[in-house]
Amino acid sequence: MSRPHIDKILYGGDYNPEQWPKEVWDTDHRLFTKAGIDTLTVGVFIWSLTQPAPDTYDFTVLDDILDRASAEGRRVVLATGTAALPPWLAKAHPEVNRTDFEGRRHAYGQRHNFCPSSRTYRQLSTALASRLAERYAHHPALLAWHVNNEYGGACYCERCAEAFRAWLRERHGSLDALNDAWCTTFWSHRFTDWSQIEPPNALTEHWRGPDHTAFQGITLDYLRFTTDALLGCFVAEKEAIRAHDPSTLVTTNFMGMYRPLDYHRWAPHLDFASWDSYPPLDKPPSWPALAHDLMRGLKDGAPFWLMEQAPSTTACRDVNPLRRPGELRLATWQAVAHGADATLYFQMRASRGASEKFFGAVIGHAGREDTRVFSEVAALGAELKSLGAATVGARTPARAALLFDWDSWWALEISDGPSRLVKYLDVVHAYYGAARAAGADVDVVPVTADLSAYDVVLAPALHLVKGDLAARLEAVAERGGTVLTTFLSGRCDEHDRAFLADVPGPLAPLMGVRVDEWDARPAGVTNPLDGGGGEGSLVFEIVIPQGAEPVARYTSDFYAGTPAVTRNRFGESGGEGWYVATHLDEAGTDRVVRAVLARHDLVGPYAEHRDVESATRVAPDGTRVLFLLNHGAAAAELTAHTTATDLLTGERHEKGGPLTLGPLGVAVLRVE
Ligand code: GLA
Ligand code: ZN
Repeated sequence: MSRPHIDKILYGGDYNPEQWPKEVWDTDHRLFTKAGIDTLTVGVFIWSLTQPAPDTYDFTVLDDILDRASAEGRRVVLATGTAALPPWLAKAHPEVNRTDFEGRRHAYGQRHNFCPSSRTYRQLSTALASRLAERYAHHPALLAWHVNNEYGGACYCERCAEAFRAWLRERHGSLDALNDAWCTTFWSHRFTDWSQIEPPNALTEHWRGPDHTAFQGITLDYLRFTTDALLGCFVAEKEAIRAHDPSTLVTTNFMGMYRPLDYHRWAPHLDFASWDSYPPLDKPPSWPALAHDLMRGLKDGAPFWLMEQAPSTTACRDVNPLRRPGELRLATWQAVAHGADATLYFQMRASRGASEKFFGAVIGHAGREDTRVFSEVAALGAELKSLGAATVGARTPARAALLFDWDSWWALEISDGPSRLVKYLDVVHAYYGAARAAGADVDVVPVTADLSAYDVVLAPALHLVKGDLAARLEAVAERGGTVLTTFLSGRCDEHDRAFLADVPGPLAPLMGVRVDEWDARPAGVTNPLDGGGGEGSLVFEIVIPQGAEPVARYTSDFYAGTPAVTRNRFGESGGEGWYVATHLDEAGTDRVVRAVLARHDLVGPYAEHRDVESATRVAPDGTRVLFLLNHGAAAAELTAHTTATDLLTGERHEKGGPLTLGPLGVAVLRVE
């Protein structure tokens, strides 16, 4: 496989010109040139045109789109287009339609809803991918393959039930092993034949929706199965492409912190990671940052592509605010700061009809270039061009890692007890956000990652502890590093069976604590920690130190005076295990995380500027690029901690001299 030659950050987005007349294409390309657009994602929803009938393929429109792009000097991310079915297919083969969680078999409609176990779907989608690869593998415009689109959801049909049973045989080997893993003697569930096993849904193990299951083990395995079933669709299309095109990179666009699919299981099969960023409106900038770092962590820190973001407004929410002037630029540089080598939009031109006609676009229905959005997009295009290759291929020199684990996410949120109010992402984001606010670069990595390069490993809400993870965390502390974990960690094994040991199970020796019992209280009930350590809420574990020393204690209730935060010296090199026994507020989390980072000199020079985000990337030639991003509405007056040149403005900042970031301002500094 060969990396395509990229001499600047790729810029462009989803472009669906099959929806409008050719005359409009002229305007599109003229404006693309004006805005510095070099990359177009095409063919994402074009299946009903490329295969209008079972035995008819017609690539006329796609030919024209690619030829035109090529003539204009633009490159194309070519989608296989298998995410939205043509009507004839769903009519002729109803089994391609999904059966939902309530057990209802759907009829034709919408998109992203094929049954992953349908043989017809598999055959037709791979046939299409194969034809596309055969036709376009050597097209001069081809830059990368984009398989399907935003894989997601789940199916509960009879075919999926069969496939689930086969998957279970493979995973567990025997019914005895499966019964043991799922603890089926509870509620008389001992299975004596594979055919007795049903997908867990509203008709079987669940009540009150997907998070309430009688058997966590069954539901966990179905989540893993669904991940693998959809991955099977991706891999099959990729193989079909590879038969004709051995070298062009293949990806599919992810959705960041998307609970239904364990992207770590997918990661080895992607040539590079890409994702679509539509940050929730109620979240701070550290939320998309976490998603960027999670996506960068998929391929061992290699750059990812921002495959989609809205240039202005979304349309899918009840209320869809505009991105304010400057916000798009800031979000784009934030993506680059975290490792993006491409920043692309959905969408380049607005579709005329249907559900996304009011979704923001670089070019609106009137085709004007004198709009605010177009001007901002074009100005950004010019900036990206002026930066050139400076950050292409650059990596993040993080010395702190945060473990992210879909199994723990699932297990925590489908657990009955101790509290439905604890949300995995909220806990993970709290620790991530605190580390980032302190100025540390953070790699967000799977629990299987090599941890030997890190001084600090944050492992919040590590509910399941699998394989040799505990030993690898101990190894971090043995060579002098610090490991932090929190309440609800170390509870269960990979099958969600409680460890037959003191909590936190295999993490107990490193943490030097024993959790004796745990209290859960309604939202709003807090327990202040002593010494100004912030407040705990939701879950209050009662800790009995087994060698650890208290850092902060609860001050109220019958467990007042018992430790809420502890540190434990571990090994001969000064390493430590930190345990946080409650859900801390921001002040408390900040304090703990800064104390941990400070042990390794990882609190950054701008840590006192809450609105200023910093991130470093190191280019393949060793150049260090420091990004400073001001998320505040007021200017940030900093003192440069190093001599550096702003690659966007050419301005040189002397160490110790003033460095001002305007409101929503960005500096991309080459460090000397
Ligand atoms: C997703 C999809 C796009 C489009 C956008 C906007 O990210 O991949 O096709 O639907 O959302 O809603
Ligand atoms: Zn199915």
